[in-house]
Amino acid sequence: MKRFVFAAFFALVLVVLGTSFVSAGGMQQTPNVVTGAQLYDKWYAALGVQAPEGNMPIWSRQSTNSRSGAETWRCAECHGWDYRGVDGAYAAGSHKTGFPSLMIVTANLSQEEIVAHLQGANDAQHDFSAYLDEPSMQKLAVFLKEGLVDDSQYIDSASLNVIGGDVEHGKSLFDATCAKCHGADGAKIVFRGEGVDEYLGDVAQRDPYRFLHRTRFGVAGTEMPVGFSLGWTPADGRDVLAYAQSLPEAQTSAEVTGAGQGSAPAPQDLGGPSDNWVSGVFTGILAALGTIGTAILFLFFIVMIGVAVVFVLRRSK
Ligand code: HEC
Ligand code: HEC
Repeated sequence: MKRFVFAAFFALVLVVLGTSFVSAGGMQQTPNVVTGAQLYDKWYAALGVQAPEGNMPIWSRQSTNSRSGAETWRCAECHGWDYRGVDGAYAAGSHKTGFPSLMIVTANLSQEEIVAHLQGANDAQHDFSAYLDEPSMQKLAVFLKEGLVDDSQYIDSASLNVIGGDVEHGKSLFDATCAKCHGADGAKIVFRGEGVDEYLGDVAQRDPYRFLHRTRFGVAGTEMPVGFSLGWTPADGRDVLAYAQSLPEAQTSAEVTGAGQGSAPAPQDLGGPSDNWVSGVFTGILAALGTIGTAILFLFFIVMIGVAVVFVLRRSK
């Protein structure tokens, strides 16, 4: 009888170990801060819904940014990729709206106060409750309270060049993690900006804040790895950016002026998912292999448990 209890206990331990292994291998939960950051980027893409019709009501309070439609509903379009709104990169240029920085403000607001703001508590036109459910608002608030990084310490606001990055370290991270999809030269996936083609080198040069946000938190709806979940520090992201700024560009500087500071309409939107189907198929196969691997691991544990139970029961006879 004692043996039997022991066998049952042993089996239970194996099951717990097995499932935690499997969940670490494949079914990892996305942290709230990452989901919140992707909602901040483009909440309707993150939720897989259509953007609302027309312009966000607050949009009409400004006339300096001439974009319209879906773009005007994005937190990032009004509050900036550096989260500093009118105090940051969007103080000038085609993205200028004059809308406020969230950097300091959100540190002083509670998570509940931020959610209340998104429900229109202070400004009825800032009410997103028709589009975002409460859990999504909570995730946005978690991101705004815990996920903001002050990237002005890494980027020179005039030249948009990285300050003090370790290019060699950035190259080794890039080659190990990014090159398989973006290519060693960053040109394998071509982004469709507002009417222009862009390589990773273009994004790094012209919108380093967007580059950092997306390297840190990923791009909603893609298989792109998430720096935050890989355990990358902000300085790791900065080093990759420093290296990416040396990669070839699709646009010469004369053709397009800076997305952060420049005056020409700058590439901003990702025109939907990548139209590079080869890389799409490739990532699909990789994802499938990952799932199969997880399943095999799980089966392995089940079989191990069976063997262990039989073994212990036999010995107890
Ligand atoms: C169309 C532009 C626009 C969009 C889109 C937008 N905001 Fe705002 N936001 C503003 C303006 C303007 C204010 C300041 C006036 C106000 O409170 O409504 C503001 C204020 C805020 C505040 C409060 C700041 C304070 O001083 O208390 C928070 C928090 C905030 N926004 C978060 C977000 C989040 C998160 C999103 C995306 C879901 C978002 N905003 C989308 C324009 C926008
Ligand atoms: C599994 C494939 C994959 C890997 C690996 C990958 N990416 Fe991506 N990346 C994508 C896809 C897909 C997109 C979105 C393309 C689109 O929308 O057209 C993207 C978009 C981006 C963007 C946004 C560009 C823009 O216009 O805003 C940045 C920045 C970026 N990747 C950087 C990186 C970095 C840095 C790494 C390494 C840490 C990396 N990516 C690794 C697939 C990948």
